[in-house]
Amino acid sequence: MKLEFSAAPASLEGRNMYGFDWKEHVCAIPAPLVTVTTYKPDGKTNATMQSWLCFTNEDGFYCIFGSVNRHKHMYQTLKQRRALVINFPSADNYKACYRTIRHNRMEDDEIIAAGLTAEPAGMVDAPRIRECALNLECEFVWEKELVPGGNSMVVCVKVVNVVMDERWFDEHQQGRYGETGYLYNIHSPINPVTGEESEIYAATLRRLIPQSEIDEG
Ligand SMILES: Cc1cc2nc3c(=O)[nH]c(=O)nc-3n(C[C@H](O)[C@H](O)[C@H](O)COP(=O)(O)O)c2cc1C
Repeated sequence: MKLEFSAAPASLEGRNMYGFDWKEHVCAIPAPLVTVTTYKPDGKTNATMQSWLCFTNEDGFYCIFGSVNRHKHMYQTLKQRRALVINFPSADNYKACYRTIRHNRMEDDEIIAAGLTAEPAGMVDAPRIRECALNLECEFVWEKELVPGGNSMVVCVKVVNVVMDERWFDEHQQGRYGETGYLYNIHSPINPVTGEESEIYAATLRRLIPQSEIDEG
């Protein structure tokens, strides 16, 4: 039996959602987990976790960040230098990448403070995290308010340089998928009937249905 929810279910009335819509947690759709790095005005590194994003193509390869808080450092530093790096953590360095958001003062050199290694990007004015197997160097393209006057900006950046560890694109070594590959954010799924809430998880992907099997009918 399917249930429909157009208004918050009774189990969630009065629940503190920390600014998220209740539908976010009822759906809990996994999204890529990345650490975005920029330079602060004094040259120190800024790092922020981002997960509301997707990638698309037309005359180039683009990332659309669906919800960048305009009052935080990533947005402010991106607007100053018009460049950022999207670093992809994997299970072995996720905790360190996450630590960057615990060192969030303007005077912090955030990549170093988290115990990671900063290196300059090759093509844009932003730092990379060396420990991440994939770094996408990007230039700012456009932005739009998600809702008029709100906190969230939709930001489009163009990928101009792909930096990838050779073990990452070799599925016989680390590989992009499975337990050592890309991480996804599972954001506190809620059972709308009981109100039971699960913990946040970083997840990996398992390849399931090959296209050849679908083409065979
Ligand atoms: C898993 C995870 C995903 C996040 N995704 C986003 C996001 O998509 N957009 C956003 O504005 N903040 C997101 N945040 C919150 C920021 O990472 C956090 O506010 C950070 O401290 C901002 O750093 P900054 O001031 O250097 O930009 C996320 C946090 C976590 C832990």
